[in-house]
Amino acid sequence: MSHFYFSNTLVEKLSTARHVVALTGAGISAESGIATFRGADGIWKKLKPEELASMETFMCNPDLVWEWYEYRRKIIHNVTPNSGHYTLAKMEKYYPYFSISTQNVDGLHFRAGNKNVFELHGNILRNRCVVCGRKVNDVEFKKGEKIPRCECGGMIRPDVVWFGEMLTPEVLYASFEEAATADVYFSIGTSAVVYPAAMLPAEAKKNGAYVVEINLEPTPLSTQVDESFLGKVGEILPQLWQLVEMKNNQDCE
Ligand code: OAD
Repeated sequence: MSHFYFSNTLVEKLSTARHVVALTGAGISAESGIATFRGADGIWKKLKPEELASMETFMCNPDLVWEWYEYRRKIIHNVTPNSGHYTLAKMEKYYPYFSISTQNVDGLHFRAGNKNVFELHGNILRNRCVVCGRKVNDVEFKKGEKIPRCECGGMIRPDVVWFGEMLTPEVLYASFEEAATADVYFSIGTSAVVYPAAMLPAEAKKNGAYVVEINLEPTPLSTQVDESFLGKVGEILPQLWQLVEMKNNQDCE
């Protein structure tokens, strides 16, 4: 376990902030055992999700796309949130206003206890019909069929955002609102290269937030933020939060 140094400025800001927001990416779930897309152990070194995660591939080869999603769902079912997720859940309880905008589709923030979560790229555990749009939680594979079908006969797909698709406008709008009004904004475990999510930390900074990045390696955002920590979020965030809690306890004595 590495130990990190945190500035008094950051601890003070976190101790007095009223509105704190975190943008999270695949890196926060890495310590739970879910492979990231990019980075040293990124899944994109082995597979090409930009090809699998598209409507075009789904229409041509739906059983292959379903196989890939079923594989990822199995992994997600068998993992648990880690100390990074749990620290964000503690933070949500502490602040009057706290939210997470996540690019992850694994639902681990909800499982850790966070409630105010905007899922920018959808949720892999939900499905919807490509024809009527009906949302379906549990799907049934009929005998002899490799993909599930809706009552209307349409093909059912995972309820996630694929390449070339729009994000849900309300979710995107809410995430920008949160960024524009945050006192402290975290960018955690994201390579910060996929838009529009990658614009959120800049939106926060433009509107006066103190912006903090936590990531295993430098990203295009690293030189633009107020503080950048290189390392594992599951180590850095709990250590930082412990300092904030200690400061708050001292201030109360
Ligand atoms: P990436 O896989 O692009 O980036 C994950 C980042 O997390 C990398 O920069 C890693 O260095 C870092 N990382 C890995 N382990 C970490 C740890 N323990 N602590 C801190 N950082 C760690 O994932 P995203 O930025 O989330 O979209 O990718 C964005 C989007 O790209 C995904 O939501 C997905 C993909 O296209 C869709 O599927 C629509």
